[in-house]
Amino acid sequence: MRLACSVIDLKKEYVLKGETVRALRGVSFDVPEGDYVAIMGPSGSGKSTLLNMLGCLDKPTAGGLFLGDDNVAKMTDDQLANIRSRRIGFVFQSYNLIQQLTVVENIQVPLYYQGKLGTRERQRCIDLASLVGLGDRLSHRPTQLSGGQQQRVAIARSMVNDPYFILADEPTGNLDSRTTAEILTMFDKLNEEGRTIILVTHEDDVAKRAKRIVRLRDGLLQSDVMNSEVERKQAAEAALVEVSTPA
Ligand SMILES: Nc1ncnc2c1ncn2[C@@H]1O[C@H](COP(=O)(O)OP(=O)(O)OP(=O)(O)O)[C@@H](O)[C@H]1O
Ligand SMILES: [Mg+2]
Repeated sequence: MRLACSVIDLKKEYVLKGETVRALRGVSFDVPEGDYVAIMGPSGSGKSTLLNMLGCLDKPTAGGLFLGDDNVAKMTDDQLANIRSRRIGFVFQSYNLIQQLTVVENIQVPLYYQGKLGTRERQRCIDLASLVGLGDRLSHRPTQLSGGQQQRVAIARSMVNDPYFILADEPTGNLDSRTTAEILTMFDKLNEEGRTIILVTHEDDVAKRAKRIVRLRDGLLQSDVMNSEVERKQAAEAALVEVSTPA
């Protein structure tokens, strides 16, 4: 089984005004390709710090972090930036779309930065827009879309560079229950197609949709538990019932 990533005794310390904050104190776990992991834990437990390391946004203080065969913990800033733009897909709570650009242009952004935007790539971006159900909104700008539609643009954008995994930090944090259900159905579909997904969430209902829940506490891994298929199916059905019941 191939691994999307392997985290080995990962540590991250921040030094702020002479004080050291030990945000991650030695975390280890593997994520096989095709997995779907929810990272949970109290505020300040290190979830975003871990996601930032996985996303090559920041460097660990110690430990190993393998993405595919590359140990990114040993890379220079330039190498990290390169991997980040080529092989990581991010989805943020606040969508982070460029307001002046259309749906399809927003999806193209990662390719534009790599100078890789030919006819074939443009078509691929249109296909991705269709995949997330926005084939009829290609020329809309973010302000002309609902929150859920904006998040779907962000998901399409996250897939454009064939990432090791899709990293999502509270992707449904700004969405109502109907739109949350829609986005989670989309993640289910992408995962069934083989995409690896790692998301941070505070919500049990969201975490239950993943294949596995990793819990952090005080910068350490507290537990790493699989969700059974039955639990996942029940969570998906419960979300649909909630959506179809009038308020
Ligand atoms: N850039 C930074 N400089 C200094 N300390 C930081 C920095 N980023 C995070 N920390 C500290 O590291 C710890 C972990 O922070 P992190 O943002 O990873 O928590 P979190 O689990 O994502 O919390 P939340 O659920 O509130 O988003 C916290 O104590 C935080 O104050
Ligand atoms: Mg956080």
